[in-house]
Amino acid sequence: MIVSEPIRSERFRLVTLDESFASADYLRWLSDPETTAFLETRFSTSTPESLRAFVAAQMASTDSYLFAIVVAETDAHIGNIKLGPINPHHHNASIGLFIGESDWWGKGVATEVIAALTAWAFEALGLAKVTAGAYASNVGSIRAFESCGFEREGLLRSQVKLTTGDRDDVVLLGKVNPRG
Ligand SMILES: CC(C)(COP(=O)(O)OP(=O)(O)OC[C@H]1O[C@@H](n2cnc3c(N)ncnc32)[C@H](O)[C@@H]1OP(=O)(O)O)[C@@H](O)C(=O)NCCC(=O)NCCS
Repeated sequence: MIVSEPIRSERFRLVTLDESFASADYLRWLSDPETTAFLETRFSTSTPESLRAFVAAQMASTDSYLFAIVVAETDAHIGNIKLGPINPHHHNASIGLFIGESDWWGKGVATEVIAALTAWAFEALGLAKVTAGAYASNVGSIRAFESCGFEREGLLRSQVKLTTGDRDDVVLLGKVNPRG
């Protein structure tokens, strides 16, 4: 789905991810083993064509919002964050994200953009609950969600296989809209 006005946080803008963001940098992130270690995208190979098709499908989606994370000061695209699918009956949705530009890892990006998108989901969309899931060894992601008030609600034991071959749990997190 398309949002005309960006969602703004202190350092970033969340902008509907259109074809203009389907860049060589984005493709590089998708082929980087470290960036994709905890992402399901690692199981498929992305090409310029498949990336453009993915972006078009996301824009045409009727239940999901995919945003580029853009540095307000420089206009640089450094990663993506998604809200969806939105369940119109239960008024909930899930958040997923990755920071592609590794220079930005550990600098509070995830914490800042999760907070901004969650606030927008509650205030602009009126959602009652937002959820997320992360591999248990993805400590940074889990900490970022917890810093934004998400609580651990469940554990899917030995749910996924890591790139090392070891199995890992998946942590389920959730935040209930305090305004109901
Ligand atoms: C994981 C990821 C989303 C975290 O984003 P980030 O912007 O680096 O996270 P933040 O800087 O907001 O850090 C949040 C917290 O986690 C900690 N943290 C960040 N990366 C960490 C790491 N690799 N190991 C341990 N702790 C880490 C930070 O110190 C911070 O802790 P604090 O709240 O106590 O200060 C980002 O590094 C990333 O996109 N990685 C690649 C893709 C991926 O794994 N996506 C998540 C799939 S669920």
